[in-house]
This record gives sequence, structure tokens and C-alpha cells, in this order.
Amino acid sequence: MRIAVLKERRPHETRVAATPDSVRALKKLGAEISVAVEKDAGAAAGFSNEAYEKAGAVLAADAAGAVKDAGLILKVQRPLLEVEGHDELAGVRPGAKLVALLSPHNAKNSLFAYAQKKVDAFALELIPRITRAQAMDVLSSQSNLAGYRAVIEAAHVFNRAFPMMMTAAGTVAPARVMVMGAGVAGLQAIATAKRLGAIVSATDVRMAAREQVQSLGANFVMVEDEESRQAETSGGYAREMSEAYKQKQAALIAETIRKQDVVICTALVPGRPAPRLVTDAMLASMKPGSVVVDLAVEAGGNCEGVEAGKIVLRHGVKVVGIHNLPSRVPADSSSLFARNIVNFLGLVVGQDGNLCIDWEDEIMKSVTLTRDGQVVHSQFRAS
Ligand code: NAI
Repeated sequence: MRIAVLKERRPHETRVAATPDSVRALKKLGAEISVAVEKDAGAAAGFSNEAYEKAGAVLAADAAGAVKDAGLILKVQRPLLEVEGHDELAGVRPGAKLVALLSPHNAKNSLFAYAQKKVDAFALELIPRITRAQAMDVLSSQSNLAGYRAVIEAAHVFNRAFPMMMTAAGTVAPARVMVMGAGVAGLQAIATAKRLGAIVSATDVRMAAREQVQSLGANFVMVEDEESRQAETSGGYAREMSEAYKQKQAALIAETIRKQDVVICTALVPGRPAPRLVTDAMLASMKPGSVVVDLAVEAGGNCEGVEAGKIVLRHGVKVVGIHNLPSRVPADSSSLFARNIVNFLGLVVGQDGNLCIDWEDEIMKSVTLTRDGQVVHSQFRAS
């Protein structure tokens, strides 16, 4: 079987779905596997065409050349379609499998395009958070690096230092950092800010976050009530909270935020707009020169007034909205993403190197959007 790795064409994307190392691993998945990598697919992440060739891949001049006769197509982001001016799946063979972050909630029409082309599409963001799937969990691997990078970006635009420094010329006070949302990205943001010497606090709506935050040496602040005891879904994610809870939470955040120098926002609710946690009035209460980095910007933002791709100055506070933070560490984020894919393909490729899928497997059921020309996923098929 032929596996195709395509170049990313969407804006702000520098990652690639396979690295030279993962090409070697892909070839070991089964006998008779060949890997076609589109020319320059890894260039933005620092992986050269020569490195892919050395790993045993064949270079294809363009996407059409790579997908021709491929049984599997690997991407980071969903492929461009004809309606977007460039059809990355042109010439794809019916029955081919597409593996990528397919944003099914935001790009429902693409699902019908995959079905029409008879491409079976697997959305990596729908991999369930179960122990067996941990090594395939792209959301975790990418959020972890995003949390790290958010703190680095904050330190870069902050006009003071993070660690306390006692010098002959005087003492530099440590920065106070608050992290909103203590999930995968938030916990890594806490750990990174601690390593830089900041005094860190964090908040969440899930009770389970308390112990994790405290074990990293940060203070945990949270509104605890009957509702927060039910805030976590069986999948480990947060629910959207009631208006009454939001008001109590806003009062707590207002009290805490005015003492902070840096706020890292990471709060998300899957399939919903990001919760609004930092209001304009809260920004006004912060010291001028403070920094807010909002990782949730692409889901609408946790911070009022945040704009994707910009640093907006509000009441003297720099509100930073960066597209696609994992793309700012593309070598590492691609390596982890590519490794997640290789692990996932253990469920898709048999030892002989051909497709061998148990469609009843819990993980396959969760990720399969289209199959045999139909949208089959229970959340997205027309009822
Ligand atoms: P996420 O990216 O959906 O959300 C980020 C954080 O924002 C979460 O901690 C969430 O509780 C928090 N949040 C949502 N609404 C909020 C609000 N109104 N105020 C404050 N915080 C709010 O979630 P993520 O980071 O992808 O994962 C959440 C949890 O899932 C992890 O902490 C972990 O417990 C669990 N998990 C389990 C895995 C496994 O078992 N394989 C793998 C990865 C995560």
C-alpha cells in the first residue's frame, strides 16, 4: 500500500504529518508499504526533502502526484477542497483513507465532499480519551507544546523579567502568572512559568484540576459548589457552566486578576465557543504593561477584545492572540503528531501492509466521519 503525506496549505500552518523518523516507522507497519511525500512538505518544520528520501520515502512533485494510487493520506489540517480554489484530493482513489485534524464541527460541508469522493475520513481530534488511545492523542501532544509556547510568547512581550533577581543594583520582583483552564495546555503553561521563576496561580471548573495544579507548585483558585462537582464530562472535558456559576466565577477572577502580571488563557469547552473569562473591566483593573496570551482565540477567545494574529493594547494591557501556537514549535509538534499518527495506524494497517480495520473498535467508531460514500458519524450525519 502507498501512504501519501501532503504539504500543509492552510494559513499559519508549519507542521507536517510525517517526519523522516516517522516515515521509517510507517514503512515498518507492514510489508510492502511505500511512502510518498509531497515535495517541501516538511520544509517549514525543518525537515528537508533529502531527509525524507534518506528515510525511504519517494518525493512527489505535487499533491496530485502523492495521492495517486494512495490507500492512506496523511495531513495535519483538513485538505483544501475545490470550493477553496485548490483541490488537494483531486485524483484520489475511491476507498482511500484520510487521516488528519478535520475540524468536523466547523467544516461540516467538507464531510459531504469526502463522502462524494468516497474517501473514508478519520478525524484525529475525535480520538477518545481512553488509556488505550493515549499514544494517539494529538490534542494532548499539541496542547502540551501550545501551553509551553504561550508562556514563552508572554515572556517575549512582557516588559519585565519572570524570575526574582537579587542584584547589587536592586531586586527584580518575580512575575505573577495566572493560568485560566488547567487542562493539558494549562498544566504545561504552569510548569513552564514555574521553571521561569514566576509565582503561579490557576483556575478551572473541574475539581480534578486542583490536585494537578497544586502538584506543580501553583495556587489553585476556583468556585466550588454543587455545579462544579458535576463540571467534568465522562470524557474528561468541561461542561458549559450556568449563568449563576459564571457570575460567581467572574467575581473570583476579578478579585485575583488585578494582582497578576501575566494571564495565560486556555479554557475550552469542546464543540462550543470558548467561555469568556476576562472582561474589559478586568483588563482595566490590571497594571499597565501586563500581558494576556489567549490560546482560546480560535474558538472565540477567553479574553474580551482578543484578535487572532494580533497584539491589541487595551487599558495598557497587551492582549496577545496567536494563530496555531503548536506551529511556532513545528519540529517538535510535527514529531509528536507524526508519532501519534503512526500509533493510530496500528488500528488501520494490518501486518501485510494492507488496510485492515475493525469498524466496531471504539476508537475507530469515534473517529470515522465518512465511509463508503456516506457521512456515518452519529454527531454529523443528517438525521
Ligand atoms: P480542553 O482543551 O477542552 O480545555 C482546557 C481546560 O479548560 C480544561 O481543563 C477545562 O476544564 C477548562 N475549562 C473549560 N471551561 C472553563 C471555564 N469556564 N473556566 C475555567 N476553566 C475552564 O481540555 P484538555 O486540556 O484537552 O483536557 C481536559 C482534561 O482531560 C485533562 O486535564 C485530563 O484530565 C483529561 N485528559 C485525559 C486524557 C486521557 O485519559 N487519555 C488525555 C488528555 C486529557
